[in-house]
Amino acid sequence: MTEPKWDEHADWWQREFTDGVDPEYVEQIIPLARQHLAGFATVIDLGTGEGQIARALAADGARVIGLDPTPSQIEVALTRGGGPVYALAGADRLPVRDASADAVVVCLVFEHVDGLDEALAEVARVLRPGGRFVLFLNHPLLQTPDSGMIIDHMIEPPETYWRIGAYLREAVTVEEVQKGVFVRFVHRPLSRYLNGMIAAGIDLLEMVEPAPPPGFLAKAPEYEEDVVATTPRLLGLVGTRRPSDG
Ligand SMILES: C[S@@+](CC[C@H](N)C(=O)[O-])C[C@H]1O[C@@H](n2cnc3c(N)ncnc32)[C@H](O)[C@@H]1O
Repeated sequence: MTEPKWDEHADWWQREFTDGVDPEYVEQIIPLARQHLAGFATVIDLGTGEGQIARALAADGARVIGLDPTPSQIEVALTRGGGPVYALAGADRLPVRDASADAVVVCLVFEHVDGLDEALAEVARVLRPGGRFVLFLNHPLLQTPDSGMIIDHMIEPPETYWRIGAYLREAVTVEEVQKGVFVRFVHRPLSRYLNGMIAAGIDLLEMVEPAPPPGFLAKAPEYEEDVVATTPRLLGLVGTRRPSDG
């Protein structure tokens, strides 16, 4: 099978996760983005998709530039409007001047990008010293390939636990996320993200590990299990651009 491209499943993403239909975005991700980017005037939303985070930040008064290399995402972002400006661009080369952004947000994007260090170098290049970086990831420790809830019926009473896959092994997987929809993921351990940020000149201010929000847990009876309710799906890393002599 040839590797799936985002253009092939942008409609799946738009249908299932945007425009207010996904409780994780509505109750958690968008509010966290607003909270950690409040007051930053010029914000780049890298891997903006159809622009749901860009629109929320623009509604809060930011001048937002949404960048994404997938034409079928940018076309929908332009249709949905709401204030941001958009351009087709990938993480390896941002069409933005050095030190011209007050903040960059990257939400659920770097787990689809091969060149993490190149992408982080671009983020650091466009951020002004003291600028804010907000990175949201599918939790790289707890949402590894093959991770998930296991009910072990071999013991009495049966035990429910969260299995973690091959955490330390960097790996590309193609997952069938819905019948006929294949998405390519790059798994990396958490230290790759943190140390990559630090090496690029971005220091950590805060790590955010929220519990899955109520609207997500209400989606399926098995999500009521304590192990699901206490296992984060999202990781947020909030950083600041170090001055170059720092
Ligand atoms: C899961 S969607 C997230 C979209 C948006 N950030 C959001 O949270 O709604 C992942 C996005 O990453 C984009 N993407 C894939 N490869 C990329 C790259 N090399 N550089 C920037 N964005 C990329 C895809 O086109 C897609 O829109």
